[in-house]
Amino acid sequence: MSPAFMDIFEQWADKYDHAVEGHDPEYRDVFTNYPFMLSEAAKQARGKTIEFGPGTGNLTLLLLAKGLDVTAVEPSEEMAAIGQAKTGLTFEHGDFLNYKTQQADTIISSFAFHHLTNEEKERAIKNYAETLTDNGQIIILDTVFNSPEEKQDMIRYYADLGYDNLVADLNREYYPFKDVMKNIANKLGFTYSATQLNKFAYLQVLRKKHYKKPADLIGQTPLVELTNFQLPPGVRLFAKLEMYNLGGSVKDRLGQNIIESAVRRGEAADEVVEATAGNTGIGLALACQQYGLKLKVFVPEKFSVEKQEIMRALGADIVHTDSALGMVEARRQAQAYAEKTGAYYANQFETEDNPASYSGLYNELIDELGTIDMMVAGAGSAGTFTGLAERLKPYTRTVIVEPEGSILNGGPSGSHRTEGIGVEVWPDFLKHDLIDAIETISDDEAFQMVKDLAQKEGLLVGSSSGAAMVAALNQAEYVKGNIVVIFPDASDRYISQQIFKTKGEL
Ligand SMILES: Cc1ncc(COP(=O)(O)O)c(C=O)c1O
Repeated sequence: MSPAFMDIFEQWADKYDHAVEGHDPEYRDVFTNYPFMLSEAAKQARGKTIEFGPGTGNLTLLLLAKGLDVTAVEPSEEMAAIGQAKTGLTFEHGDFLNYKTQQADTIISSFAFHHLTNEEKERAIKNYAETLTDNGQIIILDTVFNSPEEKQDMIRYYADLGYDNLVADLNREYYPFKDVMKNIANKLGFTYSATQLNKFAYLQVLRKKHYKKPADLIGQTPLVELTNFQLPPGVRLFAKLEMYNLGGSVKDRLGQNIIESAVRRGEAADEVVEATAGNTGIGLALACQQYGLKLKVFVPEKFSVEKQEIMRALGADIVHTDSALGMVEARRQAQAYAEKTGAYYANQFETEDNPASYSGLYNELIDELGTIDMMVAGAGSAGTFTGLAERLKPYTRTVIVEPEGSILNGGPSGSHRTEGIGVEVWPDFLKHDLIDAIETISDDEAFQMVKDLAQKEGLLVGSSSGAAMVAALNQAEYVKGNIVVIFPDASDRYISQQIFKTKGEL
């Protein structure tokens, strides 16, 4: 920063607070709404924060009151002396361009950025682009002009009033034009917004543009309200669309968590093995890719070829098991393989890592709905249901859904068309007191509902979603308020299974 400014700061130090409080008529328009402006700036700040040009420490006080970790960098010793006494914080000596570089989430400044020339402004923002965290931001509260004409009009207006000091400032300092700031921001990878707070001051926020990676597309799925089915009065029905996960199903959450946890514990190093109807294999394959692990899956051969093709495309090695012997046989072979080779057995049917995978799903639902009066989820491994029910009890009615041919309701084990749900052995982690109701849904009801959801709501879901929806409607009369039903995946991976045909139409 030019030495000329240091002289200005020296003169300003004693009278700055006098001016911001509106006692200097020449600067009254510059500082109109000063406390409000500072609080608007402070409101935006988060995380590790570097404040440049804290001066007499007025904004610093608000940042500290928010509990933020603040580094204050001030070039003027006169200003710093006042600011430090006011805030109790030790200010570092430096300026926008010369300071002890460190990572930050927020860079903030009030009424100081105009001391830099445009070239210096660009250089400073370029430095911040490198040191800010991925979601980092720059908050600049300062004067900006919309155009050179506007600036000249303003200078003429205050010259007529005889405000010589203000006019000298406006002529001497480097007040930028909005489009110049916007161009610098865009060029250096920031979005730019400017909100006017008084005749002179704008709150400018530059946010680092953050591009998602494919792996970021696991979780944060959409929640939609379904309004084209008849519901009892006072009931609203919401569906969580898990087909929008990267690999197309709720099981991406499981794959991610099982592999992450196993790697963290040092248990998975080379190969992972699992028994799955398919979606778990897809979720695991995505996660194994990230960690450079091989994946072998044992799949009963009757299951959808689409899911098997997708698993293979993602790098999994598939071994077919006899469909007549069910998932029990696939599990037996997966375990035997793990024992023989030392591969890590993901073991979704028994591991506590399975229900733990759905804490994110629970958080999303609570964020979206606030209160959940009933939750409806199908059970294959029962991980989704358990993970949600453990967190929702005792405030929520919990409904677990199975197809006919599944054993939860005490019925005999048998084959079913509904894919992805159905339990052959009661899972250890599924505690009875987590379940308020068990709904056993026939294949025909589930497949009819798949067609109804397509035709009434434009939703293309798999048959386990169909079954869950039938169960939700059956149970709707028992609550008032919000029902949430989990839709685990989409129709298109079951085209070969005639997903849009009920039994009579096959
Ligand atoms: C389509 C589909 N629906 C539902 C489920 C059931 O999820 P969970 O194993 O968590 O009970 C699965 C599990 O694989 C599935 O693939």
